[in-house]
Amino acid sequence: KAYTEPYRPQFHFSAEKNWLNDPNGLVYDDGVYHLFFQYNPGGDTWGAMSWGHATSKDLLHWTEQPVALEARGFPNNITEMFFSGTAIVDEKNTSGFGRQGKAPWVAMYTSYYPTEQTLPSGKHVRTNQQAQSIAYSLDKGMTWTTYDAANPVILDPPAPYQDQFPEFRDPSVFWHEDTERWVAVISLAKLHKVLIYTSHDLKKWDLASEFGPANAVGGVWECPSIFPLSLDGGESQKWVLMLGLNPGGPPGTVGSGTQYIVGNFNGTTFTADSDSVYDGSGPTDGVIFEDFEGDKTLADRGWITTGDFVGASPAKGTLDGQNTVTGFKGNQLLNTFLNGDATTGTLTSKPFDISQRYINFLVGGGSNINKTTIQLKVNGRAIRTSAGSDSETLSWKSWDVTALQGKSGTIEIIDNATGGWGHINVDEISFSNTRANSQVANWMDWGPDFYAALGWNGLAQDERTVIAWMNNWQYGATIPTDPWRSAMTIPRHLALKTIGGKATLVQEPAGKWESITRGRNASTFPRVNGVRELGRIGKALEIDLTFSNRRPSLSGNSSEFGIVVAATKDYTQQTRVGYNFDTQEVFIDRSLSGDVSFDATFAGTYSAPLSPSANGSVSLRVYVDWSSVEVFGGQGEATITSQIFPSTEAVYGRLFSTGGATSNVTLRVKEVRSTWQ
Ligand code: FRU
Repeated sequence: KAYTEPYRPQFHFSAEKNWLNDPNGLVYDDGVYHLFFQYNPGGDTWGAMSWGHATSKDLLHWTEQPVALEARGFPNNITEMFFSGTAIVDEKNTSGFGRQGKAPWVAMYTSYYPTEQTLPSGKHVRTNQQAQSIAYSLDKGMTWTTYDAANPVILDPPAPYQDQFPEFRDPSVFWHEDTERWVAVISLAKLHKVLIYTSHDLKKWDLASEFGPANAVGGVWECPSIFPLSLDGGESQKWVLMLGLNPGGPPGTVGSGTQYIVGNFNGTTFTADSDSVYDGSGPTDGVIFEDFEGDKTLADRGWITTGDFVGASPAKGTLDGQNTVTGFKGNQLLNTFLNGDATTGTLTSKPFDISQRYINFLVGGGSNINKTTIQLKVNGRAIRTSAGSDSETLSWKSWDVTALQGKSGTIEIIDNATGGWGHINVDEISFSNTRANSQVANWMDWGPDFYAALGWNGLAQDERTVIAWMNNWQYGATIPTDPWRSAMTIPRHLALKTIGGKATLVQEPAGKWESITRGRNASTFPRVNGVRELGRIGKALEIDLTFSNRRPSLSGNSSEFGIVVAATKDYTQQTRVGYNFDTQEVFIDRSLSGDVSFDATFAGTYSAPLSPSANGSVSLRVYVDWSSVEVFGGQGEATITSQIFPSTEAVYGRLFSTGGATSNVTLRVKEVRSTWQ
């Protein structure tokens, strides 16, 4: 069925009509990828949660199937909704649900009970209880039978968490070969914990361990899963815990996001690698500036302390170490700088020698402030300037300053307050030879529209493939689409690679894209300065862009290179995808991307850290669909997923290079055929 409505994704899965959210029950069996998903059969906002179903042979073309598990009592008297969960093929018939040698499929999901009731199993559930249930299918997922004799198979959270029964959800099940048992990972959403259960028959579950809180803990933890990957394609294997966070996503986003933690799993317990979890302290090899609670003396902490910041302007501006905000972790605090004043100002450090590879800083904006920026100057020239931060939450950033080692620099803390109190929020500036963790998490995707990611069961370890809901709880229900609402991301193949000394998740688009792209030859541009028009490039695109790394601009102007996509002829609508050489970040800027009016937080720019490759170039692969942009940077260690809602006329594109020329540019733009015809 061809879809042609405005904004209708041409090569992403969306349902013909109605609301969808999380991918569920992903199973690969007999050459077919099954995608179940949170679905409202009765409307285009969240409700009556059921499991929709779609199938594909190549992860590119999808066929929507009848609803697999419909909310019990739909539409008028719903007594049970089917929340997120997973499915497996029970090859050995451990569950006993099989018939005549046919292996049953078993789904484990969260039953959400809107009202108190006694169930057919005799179990009693309370209003708003979330509990874990199972269902089986003997026809490869087309129809399901709920296990009413004993559901829910996990009724209540364990002691001492029994009061968490309304926040206990999203079981993810897999077969653990070494211990020959089923493992289920379930979230205690509000407590930022995952519980690990084991079972021999999928019916009786024993609590084995718990993990968390760790790393990002804004909002709730949802949709956790763990899976093994080989490290650098070799013999050694690590486990990855992948989980959703809502709200509290990546820096610069509002709403939901997905983080991962690398570690080990022995069949009962997940243990995080120490370099994959953030302990609140960050790198402190060489502290340039560190501020603590006001009562501490700073002099013994490092080489340059608050007292060593000179030249505050206006003169009354001081770093007074006031703690006006509580609730941050560890040593994070809010500093009042130029307080009670809407004047902008700068604090400049004394000169110091640049001795290590990274300068890291833990900074956030404060309330009523426009932007707080940090700037590194060498010989009086701005070499690096951070993107302004408005968020009260402190987040780590790192600059790679390897090329500047041996030089003498200064750091400026710039308060761009234009109204009310000028708060800045700087906790630490330090040197180290490793990059700081950013916003206390390893973000799987740095954009606003990648949530509830889940992998397919039934694939080999090195074929691990995930898909995510390409939307955000912040504005999910108001995106301007009709009669459907929300799509899935493109499926991504996962691997673990050592990058910057750390096991890092790398992602690439899964599927044979050659089969749906129309080739155009690559163009090369020895040098691009300003803009280079590309004309009408289309609306459904696969773009490869490679270019040489540039030194940061000496002018203080931002030095960026990239491509404008989905632009109208007059460029009043445009989406910018590029690389910032000053901050060493890939970005998607959707602030002018089309309709951004439906939510005040939608317009914005999203950035992911990415070091240039060893040969000094930067590579980006970009997928543009009628209402989304996904970028994969480098080896796939930096990805950003972002919805956009441009006009149907937004088919133009151009290259841009600001703050100087970019050289060795190779560009290949391919048109992606609709997968719905
Ligand atoms: C995540 C989520 C899950 C829940 C489902 C309900 O997006 O909130 O935790 O199971 O959506 O639709």
